[in-house]
Amino acid sequence: MPLVPLRQILDEAMKGGYGVGAYNVNNMEQIQAIMSAAAETKSPLIVQASRGALKYSRMGYLWHLMLAGVEENPDIPVCVHLDHGNSLETAKEAIELGFTSVMIDGSLKEDSKTPTTFEENVAVTRSVVEFAHPLGVSVEGELGTLGGIEDGVGSGEIHLTDPGPGVDFINATGIDALALAIGTSHGAYKFKKAPTLAMDIIDKVKARCPETPLVMHGSSSVPPELVAIVNKHGGEMKKSMGVPMEQIQTGIKSGICKVNVDTDGRIAITGAIRKVFAEKPEEFDPRKYLGPARDALKEVIAGKMRDFGTAGHSGDYRPMSLDDMKKVYASK
Ligand code: G3H
Ligand code: 13P
Ligand code: ZN
Repeated sequence: MPLVPLRQILDEAMKGGYGVGAYNVNNMEQIQAIMSAAAETKSPLIVQASRGALKYSRMGYLWHLMLAGVEENPDIPVCVHLDHGNSLETAKEAIELGFTSVMIDGSLKEDSKTPTTFEENVAVTRSVVEFAHPLGVSVEGELGTLGGIEDGVGSGEIHLTDPGPGVDFINATGIDALALAIGTSHGAYKFKKAPTLAMDIIDKVKARCPETPLVMHGSSSVPPELVAIVNKHGGEMKKSMGVPMEQIQTGIKSGICKVNVDTDGRIAITGAIRKVFAEKPEEFDPRKYLGPARDALKEVIAGKMRDFGTAGHSGDYRPMSLDDMKKVYASK
């Protein structure tokens, strides 16, 4: 099965009323775990790499590892997506590698810290759409900012998406998917108590742009049982709450099609590695702790595929190629 554009995966999710997780990867074990979870649950898949991930893995490595995962799983539609691109240049680099989708996070300036004006965001997002669409590549934009800072990325402040400009943004840029800021943050320390997310923002944008798939970033649930494994084996993660699964499911019913998850996978991996280190301090073969980390991640992601409703949908449609998608864009 070829790599598929994000737009098709999200259009199908919208039709089917389910969400598709977009899972961040940095190394071989994460890619294998997520691919295996998709194969086991028969789920379409979005694997995504941040700029930090591409830098860490020296660009080409991650791409080739993802390709190996796609080749090994010919029955799974897979979109390879750039997470939080910060400029047209970064988007071009990913597209030249072969990514079928890019996010341009024009809500922040190129330093990935300073919030932009609406006009600045439209301009950079539009420039990426103009480059990507003639090549059949999908584009996700963002309006409003999330809280939290990951690897130096993020303003640290939440600015909720204003639904009115959100609709204007979709129309002015021609994006395939819009990330909304509804109160979530990146990372493990999102909330001190159960959150109430601004679900009305999803409803308002959806009512006026029913054809545009919406995206929820910062969707890790920070499960206490995973944090407990980390802390039981020498970790010191602070008490915190993530996004409860029921709220994600409510979001999916309202129009969220893409659900971004990174942190929960990181916690699962860290817990599994710490457990081996604590229980078998004599161990020094990396496969003996990276293997259990891979198994733990697979289990967490397979659970999300079931909870988001993605499971069982991998064979629902004939995958489109980027050439097919070029024709769709050209006809608009
Ligand atoms: O958007 C944030 C993702 O969790 C990626 O994080 O920039 O540390 O790779 P990263
Ligand atoms: P989490 O930190 O909640 O996993 O969010 C990840 C994300 O939004 C990546 O873009
Ligand atoms: Zn994000």
